[in-house]
Amino acid sequence: MNLTVKKSFKLNGEIEIPSDKSLSHRAVIFSSLAKGKSVIQNFSKGQDPHSSLEICAQLGADIIQNGQTIIVNSTGILKKSSDNLYCGNSGTTMRLMAGVLSGQNFDSVLTGDESLSKRPMKRVIEPLSLMGAKISSDNFHAPLNIKGEQLTGITYESKIASAQVKSCILLAGLFADEVTKYKEIYPSRNHTEIMLSNMGANIYNDNDYICIEKSELRPLEINICGDISSAAYFIVAGLIVPDSRIILKNIDLNPTRSGIIEVVKQMGGDIEILDQRDVCGEVVGDIRIEYSPYMKGIEIGGKIIPTLIDELPVISLLATQCEGQTVIKDSQDLRNKESDRITTTVCELQKLGADIDQTPDGMIINGKTSLKGGVETDSYKDHRLAMTLYVAGLICKKEILINGFEWVNISFPEFLKLFERLK
Ligand code: S3P
Repeated sequence: MNLTVKKSFKLNGEIEIPSDKSLSHRAVIFSSLAKGKSVIQNFSKGQDPHSSLEICAQLGADIIQNGQTIIVNSTGILKKSSDNLYCGNSGTTMRLMAGVLSGQNFDSVLTGDESLSKRPMKRVIEPLSLMGAKISSDNFHAPLNIKGEQLTGITYESKIASAQVKSCILLAGLFADEVTKYKEIYPSRNHTEIMLSNMGANIYNDNDYICIEKSELRPLEINICGDISSAAYFIVAGLIVPDSRIILKNIDLNPTRSGIIEVVKQMGGDIEILDQRDVCGEVVGDIRIEYSPYMKGIEIGGKIIPTLIDELPVISLLATQCEGQTVIKDSQDLRNKESDRITTTVCELQKLGADIDQTPDGMIINGKTSLKGGVETDSYKDHRLAMTLYVAGLICKKEILINGFEWVNISFPEFLKLFERLK
């Protein structure tokens, strides 16, 4: 689907941001591992979490969907699927399920679409193999042929701050003999730790290590809150589209996810958190944003990166509207996402007239530039790039065309409808 986006003024109103993708994946996967009836409310409509849901059903969980309410009845014991388990575009599905399936008493094959089949799986295959897993692949790429084994716990220090890798190893640890200890260079999102702990897993911290032991899980009752990675497009749009004022309701503000708020504050943007509360161990609140024409460029790197990793394309767009230079560094893993997001973001924003260049581990953006538009752009089959380009189109002088906009459905099918509501 090709989409034309025109310049906009005054985005105004209050909207509820749809369900968090990371929490939706975890809720359905963990519920399938728990004996009994789990109730998940406000499950994501995105294609990625539905890949996880379909795989859990293939592995024997009885899953009933009623709108966005999902009821999972499980014996807590998964069953072999005679078919391949298709993860679609979803790295989270493939990496988390690799951890679960390595410790089962049956074999499985995880497959993915073209993009997922190019993404690196060595980061999970290596530590899983140390636990005794038997996984064969074509040079560490999907399909992953997993031979179920009795695993043994390991003590592992990961060089990358990746919640997918961490969650994979913690899930494998649920089925392993002896304790599994995991440490990462910087804290990545901790939804797995919070949810597993709420479900009764034997999971705890020991100095810088997260430790997990073989555990039986209790069923889950959860109402999933809004996704800050989806809210990010409205935050940036509200800051850069003249005369805007937006309130975003019910967002997960877990400190391991909400780095974008800190960045906007440091840039001098008008942003405020309202009604902060605790929901199932997650920090939740509303966000107010107002048009902020006088923001300044900053340096973004180090331990904040994992807390805003998926937001970096749209943050780089925001930086084009800040006075001075913004330097994004320590983000080399952006090259391993649904597209090489350093190259694709820089290439497409340059087309629009931005002063942006790539470095091996990030980007350098000089602002403030008025984006001219009047060009055809491409999503590179990457949902986050499609949405970033849409927000860019709202401030371009001339309309832009986005090829492959339908990839938005991977995480955020409600995206256009919600933007229309604010216009
Ligand atoms: C995710 C972790 C991040 C993020 C992805 C979702 C998760 O990936 O980019 O969209 O739900 O655990 P990495 O673990 O590769 O950083």
